[in-house]
Amino acid sequence: MKEQLSLIKEKTIEKIEKVKSLKELENIRVSILGKKGELTSVLRGMGKLSKEERPVMGQLANEVREKLEKYLSAKKEELVNEVKKIKIQEEKVDVTATRGSLEIGHRHPLNKTMEDLEDLFQTMGFSIIDGPEVETVKNNFDMLNSPKNHPSRDLTDTFYINDDILLRTHTSPVQIRTMLKNKPPIRMVSAGRTFRFDDVDDTHSPMFHQIEGLVVDKGITMANLIDTLDVFIKEFFGSDMKTRYRPHYFPFTEPSAEVDVSCFDCHGEGCPSCNYTGWSMELLGCGMVHPNVLRNCGIDPEIYSGFAFGMGVDRITMVRHGIDNIRLLYGNDKRFLEQF
Ligand code: DAH
Repeated sequence: MKEQLSLIKEKTIEKIEKVKSLKELENIRVSILGKKGELTSVLRGMGKLSKEERPVMGQLANEVREKLEKYLSAKKEELVNEVKKIKIQEEKVDVTATRGSLEIGHRHPLNKTMEDLEDLFQTMGFSIIDGPEVETVKNNFDMLNSPKNHPSRDLTDTFYINDDILLRTHTSPVQIRTMLKNKPPIRMVSAGRTFRFDDVDDTHSPMFHQIEGLVVDKGITMANLIDTLDVFIKEFFGSDMKTRYRPHYFPFTEPSAEVDVSCFDCHGEGCPSCNYTGWSMELLGCGMVHPNVLRNCGIDPEIYSGFAFGMGVDRITMVRHGIDNIRLLYGNDKRFLEQF
């Protein structure tokens, strides 16, 4: 029995030393010290021993058990620590690590211009209206008094979805939507994307942006139109900017005008970029709302009158920042956009 005990002891210690996991260790503990374990069954056989032998063997067996228990718990501690160490290593957070600096973007120069324009008109008492980019032919042309034979209605100038729906060619249909929904007094601006079948060149893009304005009330005259636009131009481009109103034709306004402003480069002195005229051409179109347009929207032109204007946001953005190619506004090149 003595040899049996020391054999169990040695064999078990050897096994414990090789153990790699807590589970394996537990299996060893059960196989030796468990109810059906080897050591347990040896102890059970003690009854067969003589009176003299029993306490000696009992003590020896207890020593073996204690020793094995010690080994088991030491090994257990070792394994637990190892697991902990691996876990700590895996979850390690390096608080000194620097992440690549987070890039925070900013408004696109076109959006910035639209927002600045809207902000300015808002301070002048205009409300901001949104309109859809996909419009009805009716709102885009018919309701705006645009004759059926007008070239802008041509397939080569307009993106049609079908015979009745198109990508709006200007922001003017928002005038119609506003007048159909609201009774005068109306004072609104609306900015957004517009689309025309244009080939891309330095100043043209099939998608571009406009801002539209509309004022309808009793007693609105051309004087209100000129004063409002003059205030806007001086506020937005500088108090030394002059304006020039040239007669023009738009189907939805009568009379109509195109507005030139002092050259953005020389402010009127005369320079190569304005051909020494001192003027920057066609900043915007405007006029008194045509009586037919008011009538189309259920507003009596005998009682109410109004003025409207529309201008290209891309052009304004370009002169504002000295950008000479519209493609740059749509290229999404960060090296370009970063500058604004
Ligand atoms: N819709 C015109 C265009 O795209 C611009 C315009 C001219 C708008 C006169 C107006 C206006 O509201 O009164 O060319």
